[in-house]
Amino acid sequence: MNSNESWRSESHTAFDALAPFYERHWGESFFRTSTELFNALVAGRLAPGSRVLDLCCGTGGFAGWLHRQGLQVSGVDNSARMLKRASVSIPRVAFHRADMHDFHLEERFDAVTCMYNSINQTLTNHSVRSVLGRVRLHLRPGGWFLFDFVCDAGFRASWDADEIVRLDDQLCELRYRYDSARGMASCLVSIADLRSGGPSLDFEIRQRPLEVAELRAELSRAGFTVKAIHPVRNSTPEKGRYAVLAKAVAAPPEPVPSPNQRVERRPREPEMAGARFVQVT
Ligand SMILES: C[S@@+](CC[C@H](N)C(=O)[O-])C[C@H]1O[C@@H](n2cnc3c(N)ncnc32)[C@H](O)[C@@H]1O
Repeated sequence: MNSNESWRSESHTAFDALAPFYERHWGESFFRTSTELFNALVAGRLAPGSRVLDLCCGTGGFAGWLHRQGLQVSGVDNSARMLKRASVSIPRVAFHRADMHDFHLEERFDAVTCMYNSINQTLTNHSVRSVLGRVRLHLRPGGWFLFDFVCDAGFRASWDADEIVRLDDQLCELRYRYDSARGMASCLVSIADLRSGGPSLDFEIRQRPLEVAELRAELSRAGFTVKAIHPVRNSTPEKGRYAVLAKAVAAPPEPVPSPNQRVERRPREPEMAGARFVQVT
C-alpha cells in the first residue's frame, strides 16, 4: 500500500495530506504578519500569563510564538497531522483536535486568534455564524478576538495561479482558481508519490470571500463589538485582506448548530416544548 492509499483508507481532512508540505512551504509565510498584528492590536490589552486560544492553529508556529510571549496558550485544529507536528515542536501548548464550528473546551480565554485565511474556510453564512458563536462562548466577557480575512477583491487579485512543491519523493501540485460569480475559491491539490508511481491523491480545498459589512453584522449578532478593521499590507494578496479586532461584550448567543451536523426541524410536540432542533447523527 503506498502512502496515498493508506491516507484514503482512513478518515482524514485535506490538511492532513498537506501537513508535511504546509510546514515547508506555507508555515512561515503569514507568521510575521500574525505576530505584527497581535503586537499592534492585542498584546497591550493582555496581562502577563493571560489565556489565549489559537483557533485553526495548524502546525502551531504562531501558538508557539504566543507561548514564548509568556501567555498560556491552547490550540484547536481539526487536522490530526497538523496537530501532531504542532505538539512535537511545541510540547508546552495544549493542542486539541476539534472542528471550529462546534469545538468545546472547558476553559474561557482572554483572547482568541484565528489567522491566515482560516475564517474564509466557513463556506456559508450559517457556517461563519457557528464559528463566531463558538468563539464568543470561549471568551470571557471583555475578551478579544483577532482574525484576518480575504474579501472578493483579494481573491480576484491573487487566486489564479499554479504551484508545485516537492518534498523528497512526494510532488504536490496546486491549482488555485476563483469563481467570482459563485463567490468560491478553490485550490485543487494533487499529491503524487514519485517512488511508488501509484495513483495520485486528488482533493479540493475551498474558501469563500467575506466582506466587511457582513462580518460586522455577524460579529454584532454573536455578541461582539468591533474595535478595529483595517487592511493588512505587505502580505499576499497585497490588497483585499483585512485584520479584525473584536471585543466580547454581550452575553453569548444560543449555540448555532454546526453545519457538520444534520439538523432536522421536528413538529412541536408537548414533551419537546422549548427544543427547537434535534441533532441527527
Ligand atoms: C491556512 S491554514 C492556517 C494555519 C495557521 N493558523 C497559520 O497561520 O499557519 C488553515 C488551518 O485551518 C484548519 N482547519 C480547516 N478547517 C477546519 C475546521 N473546520 N475546524 C478546525 N480547523 C480547520 C486546517 O487544518 C489548517 O490547519
